[in-house]
Amino acid sequence: MQALGVVAVILAVYCVNAKVYFREEFLDGDEWRSRWVNSKHKSDYGEWKLTAGDFYGDAEKDKGLQTSQDARFYATSARFEPFSNEGKSLVIQFTVKHEQKIDCGGGYVKVFPADLDQAAMHGESSYYIMFGPDICGYSTKKVHVIFNYKGKNHLIKKEIKCKDDELTHLYTLILNPDQTYEVKIDNEKVESGSLEDDWDFLPPKKIKDPEAKKPEDWDDRAKIDDPDDTKPEDWDKPENIPDPDAKKPEDWDEDMDGEWEPPMIPNPEYKGEWKPKQIDNPNYKGAWVHPEIDNPEYGADSNIYKFDSIGVLGLDLWQVKSGTIFDNFLITDDVKEAEDIAKETWGVTKEPEKKMKQEQDDLKRKEEEEKNKEQDTEGDDDDDEEDGNEEEEEDEEEESKDDVEEALSEMEKDESGHNSTWLGGVKCSEVGHVGVIGLSFALILVLMLPFCP
Ligand SMILES: *[C@@H]1O[C@H](CO)[C@@H](O)[C@H](O)[C@H]1NC(C)=O
Repeated sequence: MQALGVVAVILAVYCVNAKVYFREEFLDGDEWRSRWVNSKHKSDYGEWKLTAGDFYGDAEKDKGLQTSQDARFYATSARFEPFSNEGKSLVIQFTVKHEQKIDCGGGYVKVFPADLDQAAMHGESSYYIMFGPDICGYSTKKVHVIFNYKGKNHLIKKEIKCKDDELTHLYTLILNPDQTYEVKIDNEKVESGSLEDDWDFLPPKKIKDPEAKKPEDWDDRAKIDDPDDTKPEDWDKPENIPDPDAKKPEDWDEDMDGEWEPPMIPNPEYKGEWKPKQIDNPNYKGAWVHPEIDNPEYGADSNIYKFDSIGVLGLDLWQVKSGTIFDNFLITDDVKEAEDIAKETWGVTKEPEKKMKQEQDDLKRKEEEEKNKEQDTEGDDDDDEEDGNEEEEEDEEEESKDDVEEALSEMEKDESGHNSTWLGGVKCSEVGHVGVIGLSFALILVLMLPFCP
């Protein structure tokens, strides 16, 4: 009985200890609008929509915030009672669903200090943590884990791949007071380690000794010329010689053509430049290794993980093709609690969601097959022309997709550029198309000029 009592007390303490700082599942219709503040920093931010999307596990529970306009920046945030994670774990968790087959766009959250001016939030607003998936083209498909330390943002040095399918996925970041971290996707660990190892927060522990210099007489040549090797006496031969087989042409006129000289040909006996044999250097000491010393700049810091006044969670991102749904936001100090809540929310709806998507895909495939069959039988009639047109249209669509892919990869290369410059890029390539057509017309007109009456 007593033992049971102790267990009960421990359980009670444990349960009371789990603290949920922020939880948002969008279960009360339009009320979210009173909790989330849209930034006014730009006038043309994209609109957020509350929806479960085209397929879902539960029509109500799966409602989340969806980006609804293509090629837009998005910026909204929600506030909670400020707290410090000192001496406690910090868990940041949410779900992301790129149901639109995303080409380029952020799927991450930013966690801000409580003093953030939400209405003025923008891309450069300073934050504590940025965490979550980011996709752009084929090559950027990663999970960002960025921490602000002493006013500077530090990116994780490891590459963590994110999900790039159309289903809802759960992203979890755990930050512990012992300065370790863990990243989970769909409640499974995908990366973990220590803050010091996986980010460059602190200067390196060791540096090259600035006092140490390679000794003057340090011989780091592994091979040297053989001093006993000498050039053979008969080595030097001219590179080119007069062709011995050449003969003065019969009709050569010395007065007119000058003195006849045979053409030069490469000398078969020419051996090139002489080089002595190479032998092992008896004085070779090996490569000189610069000795290292403790870096005087280095100072251990056991508070890298600590953020004093965590108070706002924000979505501040850019999306080319919109349709991403964010849901199930959670910030807590309890890893187990986060896991349990994940199981009760995402864990319950993910399978039915997958099934609904599967059914929709199957239906679409069947419809397409039917359509193709119809077209095949129609094709026997004499409306081939129409078919041809349709194919052309499809081709054009493919082409413009290529353009987008090209522009995307261009943008990735241009690290310094801003995302709005990418939009310019697309416009340019569209102008390019129109330009080519325009020029062609102009050319035809010019060519027709001579035929004008
Ligand atoms: C633009 O947005 C995409 C998607 O979030 C991101 O991957 C990329 O790094 C951004 N580019 C710039 C220049 O900020």
